[in-house]
Amino acid sequence: MSDNNGENVTENTNENPSSSIDTVMQETRLFPPTDSFLEGCEIGSLDAYEALYDRAKADPVAFWEDLARNELHWFEDFHTTLNWNVPNAEWFVGGKTNVSYNCLDRNLENNADKTAIIWEGEPGDVRTFTYRELHSEVSRLANAFKKAGVEQGDVVSIYMPMVPELAFAMLACARIGAVHSVIFAGFSAESIADRNNDASAKVQLTADGAYRRGKVLELKKIVDEALEKSPTVETCIVLARTDTAVEMREGRDLWWHDLLEQVDDDCPATPLDSEAPLFILYTSGSTGKPKGIKHTTAGYNLYAKKSFEWVFDIRDDDIFWCTADCGWITGHTYVAYGPLCAGATIVMFEGAPNYPAEDRFWELIEKHKITILYTAPTAIRAFIKWGDHHVDKHDLSSLRLLGTVGEGINPEAWMWYHHKIGGARCPIVDTWWQTETGGIMMSPLPGAIATKPGSCTKPLPGILPAILDDSGAPVRENQGGKLVLTHPWPGMLRGIWGDDERFQEAYWDMFPGLYLAGDNARCDEDGYYWIMGRIDDVINVSGHRLSTIEIESALVSHEKVAEAAAVGRKDDLKGQAIAVFVTLIDSEPSDELKQELRMHVRKEIGALAQPDDIRFTNALPKTRSGKIMRRLLKDIAEGNENLGDTTTLEDYTVLTQLRADDES
Ligand code: WT7
Repeated sequence: MSDNNGENVTENTNENPSSSIDTVMQETRLFPPTDSFLEGCEIGSLDAYEALYDRAKADPVAFWEDLARNELHWFEDFHTTLNWNVPNAEWFVGGKTNVSYNCLDRNLENNADKTAIIWEGEPGDVRTFTYRELHSEVSRLANAFKKAGVEQGDVVSIYMPMVPELAFAMLACARIGAVHSVIFAGFSAESIADRNNDASAKVQLTADGAYRRGKVLELKKIVDEALEKSPTVETCIVLARTDTAVEMREGRDLWWHDLLEQVDDDCPATPLDSEAPLFILYTSGSTGKPKGIKHTTAGYNLYAKKSFEWVFDIRDDDIFWCTADCGWITGHTYVAYGPLCAGATIVMFEGAPNYPAEDRFWELIEKHKITILYTAPTAIRAFIKWGDHHVDKHDLSSLRLLGTVGEGINPEAWMWYHHKIGGARCPIVDTWWQTETGGIMMSPLPGAIATKPGSCTKPLPGILPAILDDSGAPVRENQGGKLVLTHPWPGMLRGIWGDDERFQEAYWDMFPGLYLAGDNARCDEDGYYWIMGRIDDVINVSGHRLSTIEIESALVSHEKVAEAAAVGRKDDLKGQAIAVFVTLIDSEPSDELKQELRMHVRKEIGALAQPDDIRFTNALPKTRSGKIMRRLLKDIAEGNENLGDTTTLEDYTVLTQLRADDES
């Protein structure tokens, strides 16, 4: 976008002002994979990708049927590949398989002595597990769960730190057909209780405490409070991690290690129906209570495995690190199920990127010779703010591939990641997907698709996206509209736990038969997709609909800006005015800088997108998974005191500060 003067933006005629979105972003840089990356690539050319994509598109059901037979172990074969009664999909009907079997037992054949997990704790302690050891740990834990009364179909609520036992627990549930509901260990007692009640959880797993930047967060205490309000939970199993004193309630609470002592490690995986629920994962909706997204066994397993192999071009000697916590879908699919099912070696990390210092990630990469790093744009922007000297201290030459997930990445942050972390030799896979989709939907296949900073490029094989205006008609090239998926895929959600109506309404009502992702997007002249932000976040200035990410990216391309959030606020003249919130790299806020930033955006993308209000802040309010809370910022920009439900807000002090700025 740097060489665009934005001259023609205001001339951009919008033929359908009611529902399509104008793009003001012009990003023309193209990064093909280097020769060294291409060596040994499974899908190593655009032609190879297109051949695979076209074959899948011609007959998606047959495509997935073949893969399912080849990639998964079946105790009993399936008889019907897909039953599709909108919005209910059933995949591989009649078959019996087991996710834990596919991740563990299958790897005993060829990978028994290969390292499955390299785990590093916050204090620096390291534990590693081969596939054989992992199989034994999970089997023993599954027996312990049975001993504690867990049965097939029971919901097990998991509130734990990022320790190996968290992954063991997920796999142990899968092994015996229990349904896990992992709750990120940063949520409140109230949030745990809400989720436990919604899912009728029977068993709670937790730890005495969790390390959090050198301090101990007393998880068991929080769980005790939650269980006061979780009447369905009969048993609580407690792992000793921090040796924090806890109260054990007689008849309810059991020590993890005591249970393990009572059982052996012989626990054959239970053959489960393809559509047996595997897990529930709560995700915050734009309004109201969190949605329990339901995923099931065979389809999710297949999609986790194949998407992992395609996107990360995984090789036998790779050391793969996905930095997400298992409390999020990214941790489910790309810490646990995808990599383990593919027989990969993963790194699991308990700590924070800035403890004991801001170079912890780079230290880990150097120490464990990590080859693939998969992290979030919010982390990358923090690294930029913390400064290059933290990176320079470490040898990152083991890296060969980088990835991002969770939100769009601003092109300038992409460039930093590419040069500073990837040494200009590692492709970046910008992966677009959702809790609901189960796995990555759009992403470069790194050996096949040249990347453009800020674009998630193209759909994976078997994935059929479209971009529509409000009438359901496809928009033109480079026009923004609503992103939908036109064909079911194996990893798709199977509903919202206990709320069929909300499932229908949230995803299927707007365009009957098509899955509404809730994001806006455009597709460019090369067939590359650009996510433009959530549908609700569009800013409408004088009849031009602008996307948040484009304005934010223009701001972040200024050398003094670390992060930016753009929202629309009411304006009598223009309909909406643009309000932006900006955090700076080592610079003092001033009126001159405000003016400079206004002119910068004007130069980058044009007068139309020039911010009306600019507020400087030390930090932006984010959800616990790192997404900027634009709805909340909009309320602040409009001077609206009723700030709605902010229970997922990471840092309340940010809010207080922003309000204070508002009044000054
Ligand atoms: C929403 C889904 C996907 C796992 C983590 C988040 C946004 C996600 C990208 C990307 C632009 C992205 C979308 C999506 N998003 N990845 N690469 N580029 N936006 O899962 O919490 O279910 O959030 O995150 O808005 O709909 P989630």
